[in-house]
Amino acid sequence: MKIAVIPGDGIGPDIIRQARKVLNRVSKVYKTAFEFQELPMGGAAIDKFGVPLPEETLKVCKNSDAVLLGAVGGEKWDNLPGHLRPEAGLLGIRKGLGVFANLRPAILFPQLKSASALKEEVLGDGLDIMVVRELTGGIYFGQRGRRTGSFGQEAWDTEAYSASEVERVARVAFEIARKRKKKLMSIDKANVLESSRLWREVVCKVAEEYPDVALEHMYVDNAAMQLIRNPRQFDVIVTTNMFGDILSDEASMLTGSLGMLPSASLGEGKLGLYEPIHGSAPDLAGLNKANPIATILSAAMMLRYSFDREDAAAAVETAVGNVLEQGFRTPDIMQPGMMLVGTEEMGDKITAEIN
Ligand code: IPM
Ligand code: MG
Repeated sequence: MKIAVIPGDGIGPDIIRQARKVLNRVSKVYKTAFEFQELPMGGAAIDKFGVPLPEETLKVCKNSDAVLLGAVGGEKWDNLPGHLRPEAGLLGIRKGLGVFANLRPAILFPQLKSASALKEEVLGDGLDIMVVRELTGGIYFGQRGRRTGSFGQEAWDTEAYSASEVERVARVAFEIARKRKKKLMSIDKANVLESSRLWREVVCKVAEEYPDVALEHMYVDNAAMQLIRNPRQFDVIVTTNMFGDILSDEASMLTGSLGMLPSASLGEGKLGLYEPIHGSAPDLAGLNKANPIATILSAAMMLRYSFDREDAAAAVETAVGNVLEQGFRTPDIMQPGMMLVGTEEMGDKITAEIN
C-alpha cells in the first residue's frame, strides 16, 4: 500500500510522526507492507516552492492508495493573498483528489466523559455521531472577490451547489446511516438560502431510494443549539461544507477535545484523504504537547476505508481506548488524577498496545 504523507506545518510533523509509528507497528502485526512518501504542502511548500500545493505533490497523491495529512497554516503565511495561503493547498488537494464526502466521527471515549464540555447526565451512556460534511463545493469553492460599492470597499463569497453535488454526498450519508441506526439529519438554512432549498429538495429525492432510513431536516442554528442541549438525538448528520466545518468543531468539544476527532475524505474510488479535523496549532509546534490521537484515529480510518482492514482499524481504536483507560493524557484532555504525557509518549503507548 502506497501512502502519501503530508506532515504540513505547525504540529503537523509532530502528530504525523506518531501516526507513522502506529502504522509501522500495524504493518508488522498485520503483515501488510506500507510504503510512505513524504510530500510538501501548505506553508512548508510555500517556503520551498512558492506555492501551497506543488503539482508534483498532487500527482504523487493521485497515484497513491491513501493520503495521510497533518495540518497546514500559520501566522507566517497569514498575509499572503488567498490563493497562495497554506489553506488554499488544503482546498486544492481535496478538490484535486475529488474527495467530496468528509466523514467526521465524533465519538466520546467513556474514559473522557469528564473532559467533555457537557454535563455527564447529558452524555448518558456515550456519544457516537457521524458528521458527513460536503467537502469540495459550496462557499469554499464559489466565486469570490472585492469590489467598490456605494459605501466603499466590499467583499463577497458565493454559496453555490449543483443538484449532483448534493446528491452524491447525500447518498454517502444514507449508505452510512443504513449501516448504523437508520437515522439521518440533514442540516441546512432552507428558511433563508436558495442553495439550502435545493439541498433539501435533493436530499428528499435521494431519500426515496432509502425508505428504511428515517430522514429529518434541521436548520443550522437550531442544530448548533441541539448539539449542546441533547446531542444524543443525532446519529448521522449530512451538511454543507461550511456548516460541516463549524458543527464538527462544536461536536469535537462534546468528545473532550478538538485533538480527538479524526476524519476521512472519500470520493468515488478507494483513494481517501485522512486528516485530523484540527488545525496546525503553531503555538504548540515542536513542544511535544500536541495530542496525536486525532491523527492516529485518522490512520485507523485509512485502514478501514482505503485498505479494507477493519481488523487493523479496530485494533488501533482499541489501543487508543486502552491507553486512555490506563490514565495517560496529553495536556488538552488532562484531568485530575491522570498522568500527563507528551506527544511522543502518547504515540509510543498507543503503538505498544497494538499486538
Ligand atoms: C478543517 C479546517 C479547514 C477547513 C481549514 C484549515 C481550511 O478548518 O478541516 O475543518 O475549513 O476545511
Ligand atoms: Mg475546521
